Amino acid sequence: MENKMYKLENDYGLVVEFMSLGGRVNSIIVPSDLGIYNMVVGYDSAEKAAKGDEYFGAICGRVANRIANGRFELEGKSYQLAQNNGPNSLHGGPNGFHKKIWEVEKIEKEGTCGAYKLSTTSPDGDENFPGELKIEMIYSLNNDHEFEIDIKATTNKTTIVNLTSHPYFNLNGVGKGLDISNHKLTVNAKEFTPLDENSIPTGELRSVEGTPMDLRKGVILKDLLNSDYEQIKQVGGIDHNWVIDKAPGEMGLAMKLYSQHTAISLEMHTTQPGVQLYAGMHFDGSEIVHLSNKLNAFDGLAIEAQNFPDAINHSNFPNSVLKPDEVYHEKIMYKIKYV
Ligand code: BGC
Repeated sequence: MENKMYKLENDYGLVVEFMSLGGRVNSIIVPSDLGIYNMVVGYDSAEKAAKGDEYFGAICGRVANRIANGRFELEGKSYQLAQNNGPNSLHGGPNGFHKKIWEVEKIEKEGTCGAYKLSTTSPDGDENFPGELKIEMIYSLNNDHEFEIDIKATTNKTTIVNLTSHPYFNLNGVGKGLDISNHKLTVNAKEFTPLDENSIPTGELRSVEGTPMDLRKGVILKDLLNSDYEQIKQVGGIDHNWVIDKAPGEMGLAMKLYSQHTAISLEMHTTQPGVQLYAGMHFDGSEIVHLSNKLNAFDGLAIEAQNFPDAINHSNFPNSVLKPDEVYHEKIMYKIKYV
């Protein structure tokens, strides 16, 4: 199957562009008083996108984020995954869902300006995960500037699943010369999951109270990223999971991002229990993205609605096991606001 680019557009000219390769969202183009702005890090063409950073806007799975030492046990059996991130497994392994060419079909969905169904089947044993997993996602856009990803998965053997979408946002516009440090970030979380030296959660659910990780009232990202809090210094910025303050499985507000420069804000709502926020510390100018911009550290914030990292190895984290008679069903919704 060949890689193709698809487009959703609402009546106000807001455009979401994505590709069948990895379901990668390559741009979200927002008309504004200052002109047309592209708010997500991506490339000028599908060809460049296919050769570029494989996680930009991608669907990550079967298990997004990290699994310690790439190891887990399920129903008495041990599994070893590829260790593609130091000792850990990251984002489903080297040939995870970000590398698959998804089948894409235009569908009708009520209340939207357009919708596509993306589907794929991950065979039993794919990247060493058990069970044949069938995934169906719907990407849709409406006139309230809501881009929604509705994800369903089923398996024929007990397995583990944690699917996310991995777009990096810059509300100042990608390639316009400003990074994300002037953005105001608000996160609806009373707790976060601190990391060990390999970026694996220690298992603690730490209260944000009295720490720089308390983002409930909103902070300017520069202040957070420059903080000398040990968890921030350890990763050179933020690359952490916050525990969204809402009932399990319920669609709720996870976080907000706001740029004073463009007066545009973004909200992310989800049914998932956590949100990983990653400030792009590994960008070193070698990726050339939209508007011939050299991507540097802090040029985009990855907003990833998901289960907590390494959930399978922590009994106090939300369940990540999927059984044959169950349906994995999660929603992630990004809402652009002009305020
Ligand atoms: C992780 C980062 C990683 C990045 C790769 C993020 O989801 O949290 O640690 O470097 O993905 O693109």
